[in-house]
Amino acid sequence: MKLIEVLQKRRSVRRYQQKPIPKEDLEALLFALQRAPTDATAQLYSAVRVTDKDLRRWLSEKTGNPHVLEAAEFFLFLGDLYRVRRFLEKAGYPPGRFPKTGLHFALIDASLSAAFLALTAESLGYGICFIGGVLNAYPEITEVLALPEGVFPAVGLTVGVPAEDGPPRPRLPRGLVVHENRYRAPEEKELEEGLQAMAPIARGDWARLLARYFAQGGAMEAREAPYGKTLTRQGLDPDLPKEAGAYSLGALIEEALTEWRSVLFRPKEAWVEKEDKAQRGEGRPGEALLQALTGGGFPGL
Ligand SMILES: Cc1cc2nc3c(=O)[nH]c(=O)nc-3n(C[C@H](O)[C@H](O)[C@H](O)COP(=O)(O)O)c2cc1C
Repeated sequence: MKLIEVLQKRRSVRRYQQKPIPKEDLEALLFALQRAPTDATAQLYSAVRVTDKDLRRWLSEKTGNPHVLEAAEFFLFLGDLYRVRRFLEKAGYPPGRFPKTGLHFALIDASLSAAFLALTAESLGYGICFIGGVLNAYPEITEVLALPEGVFPAVGLTVGVPAEDGPPRPRLPRGLVVHENRYRAPEEKELEEGLQAMAPIARGDWARLLARYFAQGGAMEAREAPYGKTLTRQGLDPDLPKEAGAYSLGALIEEALTEWRSVLFRPKEAWVEKEDKAQRGEGRPGEALLQALTGGGFPGL
């Protein structure tokens, strides 16, 4: 099938027949995932093909997506800044520190790789579904899959023989999405048209669907803290050592202030202090504060 025809027909598939993907097709999918373009040739991603049924069941339950178990194949795509570090170390170059830009390019690399696999699968007649639900159990998945520092889950992908079909799902009018030369904020009328265009995807009320994820109290807010803490643990927070396990330096300060009366930073040191006690830590602000909180290098007052 021509790519444009695949795009015209494609829709995410959430129900699958209990049929395996033949070896030669699987080979094509694995080939495709590595053919995606990649930043600076580095291939800042990995893909875990989950074949263990128990692990699949666990992932299915944790992500809240039954199709993770039912599909013939499930892949977890990871941002991977660990392997590049290993190559540098092996060749005798000191690895740099770039947690934010690393995160940026690793997410792009992982997404492109997943998209290349997905489109190839669809062109072969398989159904696919991306699984952002991995963010519903982000710390647990990171731990159970034994991801080393610098590696983090980006998105999951189910692939299998479809047991459902239907028309392609709607998209926003192009004028809301494609801009020319400068960003153009939507007008009220266009927002109304957008809501109407997307209504069929959500039984007539797309805003309600958006709210479930993006409004106050929605899923994204609930995911934010475990996501941020896990990224810190994976060494991807510029201000915190991974042992801090906190969402951010600000969050660590707030946490400190629930127990301590004040937090004081000086060049290369931090203090926490309350009525009868003070503790000190050394280093960059996050490191010093963590040290101060966990006993510090000072006997106290
Ligand atoms: C990053 C990402 C995360 C997604 N997460 C899930 C998910 O966890 N579960 C699911 O059933 N579908 C998931 N989807 C599929 C979307 O719901 C789907 O692409 C969207 O509704 C548009 O439908 P279509 O792909 O059929 O056009 C995800 C898609 C993307 C790109």
